[in-house]
Amino acid sequence: MKLNEIKKIGVLGGGVMGGGIGQVMATHAGYEVVIRDINDELVNQTRDNLFNGRWGIKRAVEIGKLEFDQGREAMERITVTKDLQALADCDLIIEAIPERLELKQEEFGKLDAVVKPEAIFTSNTSGFVIAEIAQNVSESRKALFAGMHFSNPVPTMKMCEVIYIPQTSQDTIDAVAGVAEKAGKVVSMCKDAPGTYGFLLNRIFAAARREADKIVDSGIASQEDIDKAMMTGRNWPSGFYGQRGGIGRQW
Ligand SMILES: NC(=O)c1ccc[n+]([C@@H]2O[C@H](COP(=O)([O-])OP(=O)(O)OC[C@H]3O[C@@H](n4cnc5c(N)ncnc54)[C@H](O)[C@@H]3O)[C@@H](O)[C@H]2O)c1
Repeated sequence: MKLNEIKKIGVLGGGVMGGGIGQVMATHAGYEVVIRDINDELVNQTRDNLFNGRWGIKRAVEIGKLEFDQGREAMERITVTKDLQALADCDLIIEAIPERLELKQEEFGKLDAVVKPEAIFTSNTSGFVIAEIAQNVSESRKALFAGMHFSNPVPTMKMCEVIYIPQTSQDTIDAVAGVAEKAGKVVSMCKDAPGTYGFLLNRIFAAARREADKIVDSGIASQEDIDKAMMTGRNWPSGFYGQRGGIGRQW
């Protein structure tokens, strides 16, 4: 599947990340989007967040990030459903369900049977090895499998790490990176690395956090002083210990 053949995007999981990903795919990239969650209550919640949420379409229009018509048309392009079959004819799937490896493996196994064979599969995992997430899909699908790691809140944060496994085809890498760019993101490429967790952003952040903990444990500086140094010296929006910006709905 090449970039110009991608017309319809399926998002598995309509939570913090899935909702945001679905939103930018419709607002910025102009794709038709189907978001799948597991029950009516969550489907309604996702729909409400897309429009009324802090980073949703209504506020984007209010603060002038989107024209009124762009917002309305984007909402019309998004379907939220609990029907897995609604993903069957999507060209690209972006998975954003909870960070549990077995759950992701199981759901990709189901998707492999339901979604058309030429569709690209990606995971927005925060850091699991992509080849492990892909273990239950067919060999032919592995050529169409990649990681697509966005940062929260997706409508405002520009990062997208694209992670490739040994089987990922160049066409797939190019298409996934192209979709991210159409959605307004800046792509960093990353090779899947068995035995690690966190790709670039989360792996480096975790290493810095370990060093910060060592400094606190050695009595060299307080947590507060470390946060102040990182936030004022590198313009980080949050440090390690105070408000944990970027996680969940915490901004
Ligand atoms: N929140 C973040 O800051 C952040 C940032 C980058 C990546 N991620 C990753 O994104 C993924 C999702 O995280 P989140 O914060 O959006 O979680 P979340 O809990 O807000 O959303 C997950 C959604 O998936 C739904 N779900 C569960 N099982 C499902 C299934 N079988 N089919 C369809 N939907 C299902 C849940 O009902 C929920 O709405 C995780 O892998 C996480 O590590 C999170």
